[in-house]
Amino acid sequence: MAIYIPEEKLLEIRSAANISDIISERVVLKKTGKDLVGLCPFHSEKTPSFSVSPVKQIFHCFGCGAGGDVFSFLMKHDGIGFSDAVSSLARRYGIDLPTGDMTPGQKKNISERQQLFDLNKQVLSFFVSRLASRVEGEKARAYLKKRGFSQEIIKAFGLGFAPDEWDSLVRFFQKINVPQSIAEKTGLIVPRKNQGFYDRFRNRIMFPIFDVTHQVIGFGGRVLDDSKPKYLNSPETIIYNKSKSLFGAQAARNKARETGCVYIVEGYFDLLAMHQHGITNTVATLGTALTAEHVRLLRRGFAQKAFLLFDSDEAGLKAAQRSVSLFMNEAMDAVVIVLPKGYDPDSYMFEFGRPAFETLSEKAAGMVEFLIESAISVNGLSMEGKVRIISELTGPLSEINDHVARSIYIQYLSERIGVDESAISEKIQAEGKRAAYHQPVAQSGHPCETEPQTDGENAISPEMNRLEKHIMTMMLKFPGILPEIKKRRVLEFFSDKQLIAIGALLLEHPVVTQEDLSGLMNRLASPDDQRIIASLAICDDCWDYETGDKLLCQFLNSRQRRQGSLLNQIKAAEKNNDDTLLFELLRKKQAQRANR
Ligand code: GTP
Ligand code: MN
Repeated sequence: MAIYIPEEKLLEIRSAANISDIISERVVLKKTGKDLVGLCPFHSEKTPSFSVSPVKQIFHCFGCGAGGDVFSFLMKHDGIGFSDAVSSLARRYGIDLPTGDMTPGQKKNISERQQLFDLNKQVLSFFVSRLASRVEGEKARAYLKKRGFSQEIIKAFGLGFAPDEWDSLVRFFQKINVPQSIAEKTGLIVPRKNQGFYDRFRNRIMFPIFDVTHQVIGFGGRVLDDSKPKYLNSPETIIYNKSKSLFGAQAARNKARETGCVYIVEGYFDLLAMHQHGITNTVATLGTALTAEHVRLLRRGFAQKAFLLFDSDEAGLKAAQRSVSLFMNEAMDAVVIVLPKGYDPDSYMFEFGRPAFETLSEKAAGMVEFLIESAISVNGLSMEGKVRIISELTGPLSEINDHVARSIYIQYLSERIGVDESAISEKIQAEGKRAAYHQPVAQSGHPCETEPQTDGENAISPEMNRLEKHIMTMMLKFPGILPEIKKRRVLEFFSDKQLIAIGALLLEHPVVTQEDLSGLMNRLASPDDQRIIASLAICDDCWDYETGDKLLCQFLNSRQRRQGSLLNQIKAAEKNNDDTLLFELLRKKQAQRANR
């Protein structure tokens, strides 16, 4: 932990920031009994195994084992450090953090992200004021008007204008006393070759990019004419990650949650046009291809069904081919809306209006059907055409992990082009094997937590580990057993070092109330320790003295048996003069002792 924040402060922040509110902003949760469940944001899954307990103020995933409190959730989900998680919650709930005792380095650490959010917000106001300025903003206002955008939309999305100068933003930062070294971190000013900085965005309509909590994370800018590049985006910064960010997310979420579907478009103006025509459950990718992270974000936090509006050109088709498996693997229903040739959502909306668009979206075909039909219309049904169709589709089809879905699509394709089903299947299976051979087993970018590894020396049998965890749960849920644990020195027989440390903490600070559990979470410095406690605390089993006593006896007996058998083995090895084995066993014995 980089900084020291008093425990009372952490408790204050934690109780102000309800864990279910914070997680609900990122994951759609449903109430089941006392807890809330949803799709885990930390691994790919199709049925919810992610639980949040408002009572205990913890989360735990039964699928991948992730877990912890509100701080560890934010750290893991938003990819930020402990101090950032604490400071962002403190700020949000109006709790002052005592910065008096911190060194300048600590202050800098706690505020860097927040500083960037604040700066971006001020820059947003600067761009907005430039757009409003009578003379300077005139051309940009005229451009927006010409494209049909209303004042309401312009205001709601915070559109602005970056003046046609090299240093208007540089001077703005000077005026508000921001050191250039900090201003540079926004990515909005760029160092000159020799000395000084210049504005990245000049003479452009500016689009602020927000995250779901309405913080400005970056900007996009469009020229007012045909000059190149047409669009420019903020570079990635510590607060802006393109493959996780979607333009319009903050404005789309509520309607998407209400309706269960979300429209995905490609451009900034496409998104504005959709919103202006009342289709407010729309997000846009930011000049990058749709990523697995985007899909997961949308499926977890927005809706179960996506309407894709790719361009109807070849690039759009390629984009659709690439994204089939992304949607399939997150169990997100995806359909493709095909606009007439030459139209994008922006031009279509303004020309034909919402009713026409809705008719089109009712006719939208499932993604795979769309791929098959496009392949047929591009290649035709000649013999060569069929061969090309199959070879284009084997890749996307082989990436569908759901075997039932896959066989349904194969059947459809076979009927549609009149090629034997088993021939297509074979080709797809061969492709699947080839791809598997060329790819690492774990899907990159989806780190799924695994049980902590133990090395051979200290190997703990699964049964042992289960018993130890069981005892730890009891210690957590049934503080009445703690004196017994102390008296029989149970922890000394544990082999899992992590559990021993957590257990010692529990003996000192028994968990009786919810505050005690929060306090324990505070004392556990490592997210991995928190994960373990959350996984133990989440279940609601009841304990009594008798069951507890039985468990302890069973555990101690099995421990002693194991030690006994080790001693016997050592004796036998001595007798047989098996030095290698003896050495090995002695090392084991020593390791056991070291564990105590
Ligand atoms: P308009 O011409 O203003 O209607 O924009 P558009 O959104 O219709 O443009 P287009 O279909 O060409 O591009 C779609 C999206 O791709 C844009 O909204 C941008 O996010 C991105 N994009 C397009 N051109 C560029 C470019 O030159 N540079 C970058 N970085 N992104 C671009
Ligand atoms: Mn357009």
